[in-house]
Order: sequence, then C-alpha cells, then structure tokens
Amino acid sequence: MLVNFSGSPIEVRQEGSGRTVVLIHGYPLDGAMWSSVARRLSDRFRVLKPDLPGHGENPAAPEGTIDSYADFVSSVVEASGGAVGLAGFSMGGYVALALLKRRPEQIAALALVDSRAVADDEAARAKRDESIALLRQSGVEPVAEAMLGKLLAPEALTRGDLADRVRRIMRRQSAAAFESDLMAMRGRPDSVEFLSKIAIPALIVAGEKDVISQPDEGRAMAEAIPGARLTVIPGSGHLTPMESPAAVARALGDFFGAALPG
Ligand code: MLT
Repeated sequence: MLVNFSGSPIEVRQEGSGRTVVLIHGYPLDGAMWSSVARRLSDRFRVLKPDLPGHGENPAAPEGTIDSYADFVSSVVEASGGAVGLAGFSMGGYVALALLKRRPEQIAALALVDSRAVADDEAARAKRDESIALLRQSGVEPVAEAMLGKLLAPEALTRGDLADRVRRIMRRQSAAAFESDLMAMRGRPDSVEFLSKIAIPALIVAGEKDVISQPDEGRAMAEAIPGARLTVIPGSGHLTPMESPAAVARALGDFFGAALPG
C-alpha cells in the first residue's frame, strides 16, 4: 500500500484481509518487531506494520516528536480506508495515544502493549540526554547493546536466536532515528488524565517481567480507562511481541475480533 506523507509516496506492506489492524513499533526498532504477531493475526485481519519516519525502509525524515510520528500513522490510517484497530508497542503506544487525542475518529479500538501514560520525569530525561551524548560520540552500537538487556527478560536473553534478531533490527536503524526517538520520548506529554476520557474499547498488554513499563503501571492504566481489559504475559520482559508472539497475537486477536465490527 502506498501512503502519501509529506509529499512523498511511502510503501507500507500489508498482509491478510479483513478489518484493518495497524501495529506501531517501539524504540529503537522498526515494523519487523511485529512480524511473528502480524503473521498470526493475518489469518483474520488485514495487518499493517509501518516503519515510522526514518526507521526501517521509511525514507521520510524523522522529526523528533511523538506528534510527527502520529501524523505519519494518521496518513497510514487514511490510506487504509477508515477507522482501524491500533496497537502500539511502548513508544508506539505513546504515538497511538497522541493519534487518539488528535484524530479520535481514526481509531475504533486501541491496544497499548508494554506502554506507559506518564511523561518522562527529570531523571528519565537526563538518561535520554546521556544516551544522545553516547550516540553522538560512539554511534548506535553501544546504545543498542545497552537497550537489549532492558528489552528482553533474563531468560530470553539466553535465547541466542531471539537476541540476535532484536540486535539486527536495532543495528539497521540510523543514528538519526535513534536520536529522533529519544527526543520524541523525552518531550512527550503526560497522558494519565487523558486515560479516563478514552471512549473506545481498549486493551492493555503487560509483560510480567517488564522493567521499562512495569505490570503494575499496566494494571493502573487498565483501571483508569473505562471498560479496559488487561492481559499480563507470563514470564515475558518488555518486548512481549518478540518474546511471546503467540500469547500477544492471541490477546490482540481476541480483543480486535470482539471490538471491531465485521
Ligand atoms: C520503547 O520500548 O519503545 C522505549 O524503551 C520506551 C521508553 O523508553 O520510554
């Protein structure tokens, strides 16, 4: 599918048919992080897993704000032909919330996977600044390697094939994409108050061993969003869509199957 964004056509691959589900990736990754989940969902849905601007194969310039990423996702939804089921992983969840605030009519059901509603505090912003400094000094390699230990649970880190796949996805992102993500996350607004205003079906997915967006935070988000469901993925760290794709696909498939009219 071709998406017109900032005057350029951007290719977004799609698989399957049926109601459209759009999967938004996190930092410092691209749409391929969703591959195993997307394959499973594609027997019931038309699944799109776009690369955000500057990531993967998307040549658009990354602008360093969550809103600019949300504008791109909005163009993807527009090109897909109507309101979609939207799932955002971590930073992708920040993007999904931004889109829901700006273009609520584009989203029929929302899944936030290992994501958060709070903004960065001073300490978190200082950590982003340290990562940006390291990135400028030494490139993506040390920043990606430090990230790996936070993305995967300790047991998953010992699964060499999985760790290598995650490394491969991180290493193909440019320094500009890393920096844009860090700036975007650093500057994102707090969305805690907004949660109680969400008026569409919502699902929170949390990894039991997630150290970035901890399950208690997921639980609190599910309690704050009227009628939201919570699924905790046993044994999984932050990157549940790659660590536990079958469980995540089941949770998303059940949710979108019920929430999106046929
Ligand atoms: C992500 O997984 O997208 C990021 O680690 C989230 C964050 O750092 O806030």
